[in-house]
Order: sequence, then structure tokens, then C-alpha cells
Amino acid sequence: MLVAAVLIREGPDAKPLPGQPLKQLGKARGMEVGTAVRSQDTRGNRAYRQLIVQQFSSVTPENEMKWEAIAPKRGEFDFDAADELVEDAREAGQKVRGHTLVWHFQVPGWVKELGPKNLRQAMRGHIRTVMKHHRDDVGVWDVVNEPISDRGRLRRSVFQRRLGPGYIEDAFRTARTADPDAKLYLNEIGAESIGPKSNRLYEIVRGLKAKGVPIDGVGFQAHFNLTGVPRDFVANMQRFKALGLDIAITEADVGVKLPPSAADLEDQAQVYATIVRSCLAVRCRSLTFWGYTDGRSWISETQPGTGAATLLDASLVPKPAFGAVQRALSGG
Ligand code: G3I
Repeated sequence: MLVAAVLIREGPDAKPLPGQPLKQLGKARGMEVGTAVRSQDTRGNRAYRQLIVQQFSSVTPENEMKWEAIAPKRGEFDFDAADELVEDAREAGQKVRGHTLVWHFQVPGWVKELGPKNLRQAMRGHIRTVMKHHRDDVGVWDVVNEPISDRGRLRRSVFQRRLGPGYIEDAFRTARTADPDAKLYLNEIGAESIGPKSNRLYEIVRGLKAKGVPIDGVGFQAHFNLTGVPRDFVANMQRFKALGLDIAITEADVGVKLPPSAADLEDQAQVYATIVRSCLAVRCRSLTFWGYTDGRSWISETQPGTGAATLLDASLVPKPAFGAVQRALSGG
């Protein structure tokens, strides 16, 4: 239970960003505009927090709602970090995208040791417990994340190996019983272009729909670089939309080789503008950036020599990408 504490946010106020906030521009197009957020970063950092409230209508906890963070030990749940982010979002009138319930990564060790029967029970129990805990605040969930390998096969995760391909249907049916109102998404990485991976994703969701499995949408993560957005991204998303599914871009960023030149940052801005236009072309429900400042981005933290992947630099100063996103959201 979150202990009511007055969070002291230190540091200077954020410098106002130019033009209309992204959330307003998104609202005018019927789309939520969001960012990934981290509890360790919002704590104590006034400017970082202020810009989240100012610019975004939706937030996604970057790690705080993952199985490893919420239930590191069997039978024990720790919602403090997640609750803090939800509390902040509630205060700011923002939507929360729940990320993620069933994923092959950041799974606690005790889960990987379970046999099929106990694993199925644990998976169902986890989905029910987490969704019920956040039922009043989280309206959208990435129920299953990244189930397909880059070669277009079902990823041989502990869930796939022990429970078989039916674990995906089981997860969605369980999620629906846990919260009849939440929007349930399947979220995937590297499935933006039409190819083996997105074809497999298409088969899976078409099959789920045909069987009446409660799935509401598909999330395309959109982790790009300066090679740009695949030309068939819109056509790819449209075929999923034609199945009656909502579409969301869930983790957009554009990694560049460090140090980026001015021309690199202009190219990056064009990639971001294309991401926004692609989203508008299929009337996305939401467009979420996987972090909005280069000072807090997984790309800089995990890909040596690459980084500067977001809209603002590490000092919260807008890059060309920020203006490009504003213009694209305004129809420019
Ligand atoms: O919490 C521990 C901390 O206790 C420890 O001191 C620290 C040092 O090792 O690690 C901390 O855990 C890190 C965690 O982020 C929280 O900061 C993990 O090492 C680190 O691997 C983890 O990285 C996250 C990554 O998912 C894990 O796979 C990134 O922040 C996060 O941006 C990234 O997000 C994923 C999406 O969920 C799914 N799609 C791809 C995307 C990028 O990988």
C-alpha cells in the first residue's frame, strides 16, 4: 500500500517548451500522446516531472509493472513503485498504459522453475492480481509482450515451452475476467514492416479474433534508427485495423550514432515525423515515446555508441525531433 508521502521534487523548474503541448495536438487528432516514465527518475526531479505533466496525456511505467518488479518473490507483491507512478498520473489527469503482464524478459527466477501446472496457475494469478490492483487507474494493458521471434516463429519463452502456444489465448481470457473494461493489447517489437514476423503476428491475432478471444488492439513498438520507417508500415498496420483491432504505437524512439551531427538530428526529426504521420494515417488510439529525454533512455544505457534517441536532449532542451512531431501532429 502506497504510504502517503509528500514527494519533495528538487531542482529548477522546467524551461517552457515552445509551441502547443504534444498532448493538446494529439487530442485535436483524437489520439493520446504518451511517454515511458520511471519512478526512480520522477522522484526528486521537478523539471523532468513537470514536462511529463505538460506534454503527455498518457504514461507507461517503463519497468515498474513488470513481473520481476511486482513479484520478485513467490506470493509476495510489491506495488509501491507502480502505485507512485499511478498516483502521479491520477494527479495529472493522465491515462496509464499497463506494461506488461506476460513477457519472456524480466521474469522472476521462481517463475522459471515452475512446472506446467504451477506455471499456468502462477500466470493466471499474476494477471488477476495485478489487473485488479490497478483496475481503477489502468485502462489499457500489454497483456502479452513480444511472443514472436525475429524469424517469425513463436519465441521459445518459458511460457511457450511449458504451456504451448495456447498460453496467449489463456492470458487474454484471464485478463478479460480480471477487468471486463480494460483494453487488451498484444505488443510486439520489430513487426513494423510486412514480413515473417508481422505475418505471424497477423495470423495469431486473426486466429484469436476468429475464436472470440477478447483482444482489443495491437501495439507496434517502433524502435527505429536513421534507416527510417519501413515504407509498408502503414499498409501493415491497416491490415490489423481491418481485423477490427485498435492500433497503438507503444515505444517509439530513433537511436542515432553518437555523437550525432546536425544533419543526423534533422534526419532523426524526419523519421519522427513519419512515425506520427503513419499513426495518424491509421487513426492510432495512442502514440507513446519510450522516454522523452536523451538523459533517460534505454538506448543510451544499453547500446554503446548509440543514443540521443528521443525528442529532448539530456538538459531537457528540444531537439529538431520535437518540432517535427509538433508539426506532424498539426497536419504539417
Ligand atoms: O532495478 C535494477 C536495479 O536494482 C539495479 O541496481 C540495476 C543495475 O543492474 O538494474 C535495475 O534493473 C534494470 C531495469 O531496467 C530497471 O532500471 C535492468 O538491469 C535493465 O535491464 C532494465 O532495462 C529495461 C529493459 O526493458 C529490460 O529488458 C529498460 O529500462 C526498458 O526501457 C526496456 O524496455 C523494453 C520494453 O519493456 C519492451 N520492449 C523493448 C524495450 C527495450 O528493451
